Amino acid sequence: MAASQETLSQSERDRRVLELHEKLLEIEERLIPTGLHVFGRVSQAQEKIDMLRMIASFDRPEAGAQALPDLVAEAFKFPRVSARGAVNEEILAQRQAVNAVVSEALRTFLEKGSDAAISQLQGENVGEEDSRPIFNLLEKIVAQLGTNQEIDALSRALRGEYIQPGPGADIVQNPSILPTGRNTHAINPYSVPSVTAFTRAEPVTTALLTRYRADHGRFPRAMALVLWGLDNIKTQGEGVAQALWLLGVRPLRDRLNRVTAVEPILLEELNRPRIDVLLTVSGIFRDLFSPTVQLLDKAVRLVAQLNEPDELNYVRAHVQQQMREESCAQDDAAVRVFSNAPGNYGTNVNFMVMDSQWAKDETLGDLFVTRKCFAYGRDSSGSTIEGREARSAMDRALSRVEATYQNIDTIEIGITDVDHYFEYLGGISKAVEHRARARPAIYLSDTLTRDAKIRTLEETVRLETRAKTLNPKWYEGMLKHGFRGVAEIENHLSNTFGWSATADAVDDWIYSEVARTFVLDEQMLKRLRTLNPHSAHSLIGRLLEAHGRGYWDAEQDVIDRLRDIVGDLEDQFEGIA
Ligand code: BEZ
Ligand code: MG
Repeated sequence: MAASQETLSQSERDRRVLELHEKLLEIEERLIPTGLHVFGRVSQAQEKIDMLRMIASFDRPEAGAQALPDLVAEAFKFPRVSARGAVNEEILAQRQAVNAVVSEALRTFLEKGSDAAISQLQGENVGEEDSRPIFNLLEKIVAQLGTNQEIDALSRALRGEYIQPGPGADIVQNPSILPTGRNTHAINPYSVPSVTAFTRAEPVTTALLTRYRADHGRFPRAMALVLWGLDNIKTQGEGVAQALWLLGVRPLRDRLNRVTAVEPILLEELNRPRIDVLLTVSGIFRDLFSPTVQLLDKAVRLVAQLNEPDELNYVRAHVQQQMREESCAQDDAAVRVFSNAPGNYGTNVNFMVMDSQWAKDETLGDLFVTRKCFAYGRDSSGSTIEGREARSAMDRALSRVEATYQNIDTIEIGITDVDHYFEYLGGISKAVEHRARARPAIYLSDTLTRDAKIRTLEETVRLETRAKTLNPKWYEGMLKHGFRGVAEIENHLSNTFGWSATADAVDDWIYSEVARTFVLDEQMLKRLRTLNPHSAHSLIGRLLEAHGRGYWDAEQDVIDRLRDIVGDLEDQFEGIA
């Protein structure tokens, strides 16, 4: 180590310091929940300022408002946030300067109102006519955040009364979800993907392919995507639109303005090959987006029939190859849309992991396929396929996959908050690993910030761990809830463990730091044991399991200490019983 450090050139050292600086900012700027939502309670002041900062950082054309950071950047004659090129020291300094002014203005806004904030910004050369629209919007939001009709709405629902509907999304994406306590309405599946969703999906898809190419030197020939229902409601089909972009097709609207067909984007326009995609849709997606399931299947079959060279159309290349090798019909070789059997939901991979009920890791991938190998679409005779078991077709499609991917579109729930991300994206990645005989590259998007980011799974696990699990702001926020808070910390570790089980994507340091923060620290251990000894026991048990299964290379004295504490807790439980 020492020798290699000495040989670092000045410029290499600068580059690494800059990279570190950027990573720190990324963690610092990440919006995290600092406690659980308490039903019926209005949001607290600090939550509000962070939330408003995120809301104000996007253009809000529906309110005629420009993003506040852009207004400030323009006033400072800095490049707009969205127009930034490669990050360098100057850009980072500009970003910090802009953020400081924005935060100060928002604080003034919350304390003294719009006029005070607007005049403060005038002092920074931001014109009143430019900043007024965003503050008008923020005023409305703050008023709505200050009221809460959740309990009232629930009791009305229990009496069987009418509950006003509202859109389902997170607040940053769509502030018109406020007030809360309404009935979430779905969207017309024929509107998916919306024009906006299709437009927004292009840079994300490009970033995804660019990232894969940077990591692997070429485009992926086949990818597996996870599509969820609620996410596609919230974004009006951004995940769907990304799949269409990968295939290189655009949606077409009929005379009733329904998306019922697609047309190929010309290869000259696309400027890259069409990527083969395997789409696993959740049971909820299948139920809510039946026309979209048909659209996706239609898109794959259309692309498979285009008369294009193999090296520019991987769908066609794969379908033709399979037809030759298996002497099968195009109908069978072009099956790409899979879900559960009709009436079934979920992969059960999460339950198997949580209950430690597997010995060989391929069992997890096999379970995923068993649950998800039901094909949906339409064959060439025009008959619909509604959940036909197609295990060998899925196995074959999985065997070609080089990268797996899921679109993340909410600030509220991340990949270690719930077990559904690892059951789906982890489950399919494990299924690929044993069929393709290589672990796929695993990516997630992050469309929460202005510039669409693509991260590997490992990077995302690290970021979530630093921003949440190991962040005192996060865990102290949880611990304020007592018993439930300890359970949340334990949940985070278990969900992180799920990424070891399905994708071996968790660094040793993550488990070491969790042990150090929550167990080896006497004070903290005492707090956890007092608040919720059962979750404390499960957390330590999970750490020992991570070690036992080879996911965590821990020091022996740490393991001994964990075993002692588990023994202690068990004695305590026996004493109670
Ligand atoms: C869905 O919206 O499709 C979904 C939600 C939670 C877990 C899995 C899928
Ligand atoms: Mg490891």
